[in-house]
Amino acid sequence: MCGIVGYLGKNEKKEILLDGLQELEYRGYDSAGIAVIENKQLKNFKAVGRLKNLRDKTKEYESKGFGVSIGHTRWATHGKPTELNAHPHMGAYSFVVHNGIIENYQELKKELQADGVKFLSQTDTETIVHLFEKNHNLNNNPWESFKKTISKLEGAYATLLITEADEETIYFAKNGSPMLIGFNDSDVYFASSDTPIIGKATEVYYLEDGEYGYAQNGKIHLFDKNGEKTFSKQALATDKAMAQKDGYRFFMEKEIYEQSTVMNDTMMGRLLDDRIEFEELDKDLFDNIVNIKICACGTSYHSALAASYLFERIAKTPCQVEIASEFRYKEPLLRDDTLFVTISQSGETADTLEALKMAKKAGLKSLSICNVDNSSIVRESDAAVLTRAGIEKGVASTKAFATQTMVLWMLAIYVAQAKETIDNELLSQELDAMRHTPKALLVADELHPKMTRLSKRYLHGHGFFFIGRDLFFPLALEGALKLKEISYLHAEGYPSGEMKHGPIALADAELFTVALMPKSLHYEKIKSNVEELCARDATVLAISPEPFDLADDFVKTTYDSHPMLEFFEMMVVTQLLALEISVRLGNDVDMPRNLAKSVTVE
Ligand code: AGP
Repeated sequence: MCGIVGYLGKNEKKEILLDGLQELEYRGYDSAGIAVIENKQLKNFKAVGRLKNLRDKTKEYESKGFGVSIGHTRWATHGKPTELNAHPHMGAYSFVVHNGIIENYQELKKELQADGVKFLSQTDTETIVHLFEKNHNLNNNPWESFKKTISKLEGAYATLLITEADEETIYFAKNGSPMLIGFNDSDVYFASSDTPIIGKATEVYYLEDGEYGYAQNGKIHLFDKNGEKTFSKQALATDKAMAQKDGYRFFMEKEIYEQSTVMNDTMMGRLLDDRIEFEELDKDLFDNIVNIKICACGTSYHSALAASYLFERIAKTPCQVEIASEFRYKEPLLRDDTLFVTISQSGETADTLEALKMAKKAGLKSLSICNVDNSSIVRESDAAVLTRAGIEKGVASTKAFATQTMVLWMLAIYVAQAKETIDNELLSQELDAMRHTPKALLVADELHPKMTRLSKRYLHGHGFFFIGRDLFFPLALEGALKLKEISYLHAEGYPSGEMKHGPIALADAELFTVALMPKSLHYEKIKSNVEELCARDATVLAISPEPFDLADDFVKTTYDSHPMLEFFEMMVVTQLLALEISVRLGNDVDMPRNLAKSVTVE
């Protein structure tokens, strides 16, 4: 979720890079850097924090005349946000920027270290530049060295490399992370999305996975596994605001569609062939832990509730979940055999942070699950796992929830492995289901238009109930919260078995019930709960892989054999329902009234 910019040409390079990075800052901004070669001289600047800090640092620097340049804004995944970990990463005479994750970096790093290479950062990216220079020192041919380097990389990458060994060339490669090339006369631009080059380049080529090559003398030499290839440029969009949203109407919509891809980032390096691994966690984190307590707010609280089912069911570890604002004042009894887990997208939520401080004071070990490295909650915790969702702009959380839930699911398996509460058969079933998750999160072609159509029937009435059982109860709570936040309609999440204990009194044709009816978890039970509502004339929108004739509206899902796959697929349906109702009501989808993205007050 970082941002890349590159430029080859005769214009002032510093400004092009900084302006471009500014456009990408919305994707992540814990540190940034640039590297320029002109008149055979290499210059490099880095700064932690907002881009403004890099601007201040480069105030005196001007880069006129022909040259090559690369820049990067970072959202930490491997290693803390420090200057050493900021890109561009440096070898002896070359610089590299990279988005994505090099999965085999540890293996490559070990080989390079055995050859005497010293690493300055904790990043996977640094291996690229050292590998390039190792190859170059052997063959003295920069292009062959770059090709050889790329052939060794596994994982996702979009990367640019410049080197004093060939100071008029930018080398590039793309696999799994976005990268495009912009053109204007003999000027060549690179970027990880349109916005940095809008207004500068006039034409664009969007690189495909597996493509690589070099830019020299204003020309691109493009290759893939079959050798050199031709390509056609297209006109570049001119509307920046639109481009930031990648063509979607709202950030929330973009973020719903992004869930499938960011999930790959969340799992990368953690979901291995035969087990779950968290290299950021000390092996002894769960030693002597007999209990897990999770504290969070809002959407993060819902992911925590879902996790409590998984920790107890798979890891056989008691797990309680508390709303942070309640926890703070209940004078909780805390025991030091409890691991205190906080979940927060922003890492700045005041209630969650204060709860964490209380737990620490009571001597508990703490772990945070967070989307923002170096945030207050991450800094305050003994250990942290980043969700890697990338910056989330829509106030109504979507991809943060999906990735939190995935991290928690992986963590439940991780604990189960450590405590040996999972057998090999179940472990391989769970890992297999995880591998299918990005697919379950894809928005099927026919789904979105269907939700747009359905939404027009749900704009009035006296309220919504989202109902589900087990894992699908937290999902019902989350579905209701999404709808409330952006539609301003009253919605409640409820355990479906609990409806008969009171809320069913509300049932009539103007009560809308969104029923989450997974096939793989208590289907018959929830079915009979929904039938009770149908019998009282409630209007029912059923979401299920199994046809349900009594429903007024029905959304058929595809997954039916693993609860978590059903969970993620149904989550997308509820997100789109909320989105489309909000659009029809003419509300501000991304910035709903009275809400803020990060709640730093009590
Ligand atoms: C989610 O859609 C909300 N905007 C809100 O409930 C949010 O999840 C809550 O404020 C907690 O935020 P955090 O995850 O950043 O701690």
